Amino acid sequence: MALWAAVQRKRLFPRARRLAKRLLVRWNLFTHRRDESVRRWRAVLVGARAGHVVIPSVALESSRREADDFATRRLVRAGDRVLDVGAGNGRQAIGMVELGVASYTGLEVVRRSVDWANRAFASTGNVYFDWFDVYNQMYNPHGSQEPEAVAFPYPDGSFDFVVALSLYTHLERLAVAARYASETARVLRKGGGAFMTFFKSPPNALTTSAVRTVFAEADILRIVGEWFVIEDVAGCETTAFHDQWRLYLRKR
Ligand SMILES: C[S@@+](CC[C@H](N)C(=O)[O-])C[C@H]1O[C@@H](n2cnc3c(N)ncnc32)[C@H](O)[C@@H]1O
Repeated sequence: MALWAAVQRKRLFPRARRLAKRLLVRWNLFTHRRDESVRRWRAVLVGARAGHVVIPSVALESSRREADDFATRRLVRAGDRVLDVGAGNGRQAIGMVELGVASYTGLEVVRRSVDWANRAFASTGNVYFDWFDVYNQMYNPHGSQEPEAVAFPYPDGSFDFVVALSLYTHLERLAVAARYASETARVLRKGGGAFMTFFKSPPNALTTSAVRTVFAEADILRIVGEWFVIEDVAGCETTAFHDQWRLYLRKR
């Protein structure tokens, strides 16, 4: 496990990791071939070649669990307009669609993920992905826009819920995270819900690595608290690679 964590942390052997993940996706679909829900979303769960590739049954289970968590906390409900910032290949859309949201919009910097996800979700009807050509050292190293100054391409108050899972954990600089938090608040209606995750210090050591950015807890509270009431927090009690600090937020 320590070796695997080191491989992830340093992003070692990227091609081998990607190939291994694709094989795992195929194997997982085979072992879950009788699972009704995996079959229902098969077209969406298989075939993502770019960006953040996830294992089908894990993606499905986590997407549903997270949607249920957000709904239980009344951050999102059926009929809402949802924005997913750093949407990847649309993992989160599954739980949102099953919850009955009016629309799901994914904003994402990896062009191939956006093109692929728009095709994969084409028959779903209310799921769309927009390409955001913003620089990120790991995910979009040729991005044309500097992230500190970007504006999300949506009008003020146009969403009821904004989710950003494992996005701020890649944003490299606090000024970028601050900009994304303020843009999230701008595109949310008053009283709308938001969810963000961070790695915080302590318990982690500070880093500006796009593989795993860590901000100081006080800085996170300051940039988020400027726009949001923090209704609850969870996680990030360890330095384990995926143990993120989950913030459940409400726009002031
Ligand atoms: C770890 S993945 C998480 C994907 C998705 N949120 C999920 O939970 O499955 C992080 C995503 O953030 C995207 N990303 C990185 N930098 C970004 C930026 N500056 N603006 C928007 N998205 C970004 C990456 O391309 C990647 O798809």
